[in-house]
Amino acid sequence: MVLARREVRVSDSFENLTFATRWLGRPREHWAELGSTNDRATAWARAGAPHGALVTADAQTAGRGRLGRAWASESGEDLYVSAILRPAPGKAIGALGLAVGVGLREGLARWLPAAQLKWPNDVLVAGRKLAGILCEARWVGTSPEVVVGFGVNVGRALFPGPLAQSATSLRRELEAAVPSREEVLAQVLPALERALDAFFAGGFAAIRGRYEPHCALVGRAVLVDMSNGTGPKEQATALGLADDGALLVAPADGGPPRRVESGDVWLAP
Ligand code: BTN
Repeated sequence: MVLARREVRVSDSFENLTFATRWLGRPREHWAELGSTNDRATAWARAGAPHGALVTADAQTAGRGRLGRAWASESGEDLYVSAILRPAPGKAIGALGLAVGVGLREGLARWLPAAQLKWPNDVLVAGRKLAGILCEARWVGTSPEVVVGFGVNVGRALFPGPLAQSATSLRRELEAAVPSREEVLAQVLPALERALDAFFAGGFAAIRGRYEPHCALVGRAVLVDMSNGTGPKEQATALGLADDGALLVAPADGGPPRRVESGDVWLAP
């Protein structure tokens, strides 16, 4: 295999970890440094990698977030993970990222039981972002091929610039007994597999009760951007989630409840 200059495969304790999963993380490849684990997983998927295949990296040089944002990935102390998922043809997968959020939050709850989900799929602690999820899908005939990437801030103590106010890590939240990246991954993957099994069997409706009680937005005043940054933010109150994962909001101007299916939502200041 020809590797890009900075893309270095390693064999170390992280690569040799095993997980209490049935299918998630089998097979897995670990890299010292990649551009983006999502890009590597996409290339691997196109080369035929199976459902459950997983890419991890110590660091990324071009980590990506939702809506074209960057994901700071240089520390070598955090988790950068991408899974290849091949849902059965005909399954609704629009809420797959919400299911990943459910699994991630449930895995991280071992250390941070108060962790919350900010729709669609950020994991927050006391309003600061601990983990983020990026889902990218394409169709191969009638079959979806999905790469689900997530980053978890584990060992990082300091964040640059505006992230100093908006981001957090397990290290920042837990003064002692901070778990290693290996322990976090070993806890998160089985939880993620359970959430995905439930989602693939019953859709988002099957796990809505595992999302909504932990949603940081429900019952709160929010600002909604349904225009991907091109229009004004609308004031509303978040009411809950629909069975297909849409966020239901009551507009502040009194109109009928509306469904938010994409875009971004913030807690109103
Ligand atoms: C977000 O909150 O906007 C999503 C962040 C997703 C970051 C992860 S890190 C592993 C994977 N590789 C990437 O380039 N992005 C995702």
